[in-house]
Amino acid sequence: MANEIQQIKDKIDIVGLISQYVPLKKSGRNYKGLCPFHAEKTPSFMVSPELQIFKCFGCSEGGDIFAFLMKREGLEFKEALEELAKRAGVKLSSYSAPSNEDQRRGRLLSALSLSSRFYNYLLTEHPAGRVALKYLSGRGLTPETIKKFLLGFAPNEPDSLTRFLQKKGFSLPEITEAGLAFRSDRNNKFFDRFRGRVMFPLFDSRGQVIGFSGRLIKESGDAPKYLNSPETPVFSKSRFLFGFNLARPFIKKAGRAVLVEGQMDLISNVQAGVENAVATSGTALTADQLKMIKKLAPEVVFCFDADEAGQKALERSVELAEAEGLTSLVSPLPLGVKDPDEAAQKKLAEWQESLAKPLSFYDYYFNLNTANLLKSDALGKKRAADKLLPILSKIIDPLQKAHFVKKLAESLDLEERFVREALDKMVVPSDRAKAEDRLSYRVIEGLKGPKRAETLRRYVLCLLLRFDFSLGKRYIGKLAAKDFAGSETQPIFTRLKEVYNERERSFDPLAVKTGLAEEPARIFEELMLSDLGEFEEDKGLQEKELGAVAAELKKETLKSEVEVLLAEIRRAEKENEKEELKSLQVKLNNLYQKLKD
Ligand code: UTP
Ligand code: MN
Repeated sequence: MANEIQQIKDKIDIVGLISQYVPLKKSGRNYKGLCPFHAEKTPSFMVSPELQIFKCFGCSEGGDIFAFLMKREGLEFKEALEELAKRAGVKLSSYSAPSNEDQRRGRLLSALSLSSRFYNYLLTEHPAGRVALKYLSGRGLTPETIKKFLLGFAPNEPDSLTRFLQKKGFSLPEITEAGLAFRSDRNNKFFDRFRGRVMFPLFDSRGQVIGFSGRLIKESGDAPKYLNSPETPVFSKSRFLFGFNLARPFIKKAGRAVLVEGQMDLISNVQAGVENAVATSGTALTADQLKMIKKLAPEVVFCFDADEAGQKALERSVELAEAEGLTSLVSPLPLGVKDPDEAAQKKLAEWQESLAKPLSFYDYYFNLNTANLLKSDALGKKRAADKLLPILSKIIDPLQKAHFVKKLAESLDLEERFVREALDKMVVPSDRAKAEDRLSYRVIEGLKGPKRAETLRRYVLCLLLRFDFSLGKRYIGKLAAKDFAGSETQPIFTRLKEVYNERERSFDPLAVKTGLAEEPARIFEELMLSDLGEFEEDKGLQEKELGAVAAELKKETLKSEVEVLLAEIRRAEKENEKEELKSLQVKLNNLYQKLKD
């Protein structure tokens, strides 16, 4: 198998593979392009033909050809392997029996599926579920809807599910690992996790039950209204959307997903015919959830609660959606309802109208913040600008941006260029952080403290690895292992120096990587892939930069040697070691002289 993977890697060049998805441009030893995994305007996605890996310095996705295809096409490793084997014409020997890991997951999925049937039976057929059934029909759900979502009821008893599953052959560790029971600290007994709740099974996109959410029938003071499955080997809440398994074809057909917050919001809407709806169900929206939507459709309609929390969630979610390259729309709730559940149950006609023509988020947000703004109200204008400018600065599409710059200028009764200037002054914090991560001497000049030496070490190594061979050969002799003392980069330097000594004209970077431990190897890959901008090609610039950076690093080393000497001098003074003190003073003067040079 390892052999087959290598055969595939030998046949498929990563630059060729990625070029089928993203236009790449040569940049020095590497290729560069716009990252396919997050929205960006300036390329930070790098591909190394020498190492056959890619890395994005914006979103930090990275890896080999298999990782690229898995992420790009949303495949499991096995699927990516099969696809690339086909393209490379490599025959795969058939897969071995399912691993222990697969078998364990299979057991958990069986326990979860069986539990969903247990809960559903209690709700729909057992007298114990009558109250719950009444509760759900009281909330407007039909028997067909209950069946469609396989809703259930968990009785208010300590361990009825656990005992049922044990009878069916599941062990206590399995039941606990599936998130269905827990061991009490007080008496070491096992309890069902869900008790006295209406049960909503959580389905993955293939329709398998991977967890549950349970709602209290009678809300009581301290217990949470909704209780969800914990993270388990089969359930990860950041990669889950409630209703996604049913909504998939409808999202694709409609070209957009309707995003609501709660399980009841979702169920009522699907029942009312809003079939492209999905719900975040109690967690803040994540990039992974948006990626699930992005694979099917380019637009999201946000339908969050009308309260303040809902509006905050909206602003945050739009920023994320923008980064994923999704268009954000908003369908405002009819007046007087608090969430999409009530809208679908009580004001359906109005709600359908709102859903039929969603507003662009920016239009919506704009109107919300500039409505009732008076021409003479300077303070009001400032408030509106403070709220809107940060939002506008995050719009990536230039046409949309221009449109809203114009609109804002009109609302504020200002010339457009003032709005543009204000926007240009706003640096999006994430962009700034990214710029600081990038290696450049101009940045290092401003750096102080212990991080400075380490940044210099990495930068100088980066230049030695990437610049012209003869240049590197000249400069590497000026540096010594002690310049890298105490740093994870030291093995990289030592290895690089050996390689430079062995070679006359050029070297293969892979020869440097061989033998590096995990962390230095990771740093090495980063150094090989980072964007050197104007330095990639210009030899004159390269020499200047390398000279300056190497000198800076030497200075850092000297400074730390001075520190050590000073400490020794203080000790010698205390102990009155006159002879030693003299020789230390001489050493110190030497160091000061070197620092001056
Ligand atoms: P809400 O408090 O808005 O509840 O929480 P809701 O959706 O209107 O639910 P109903 O109509 O009272 O039944 C929104 C969502 O947040 C999650 C649930 O997914 C809920 O649907 N939540 C809420 C929890 O996970 N735990 C809680 O204790 C409360
Ligand atoms: Mn509600």
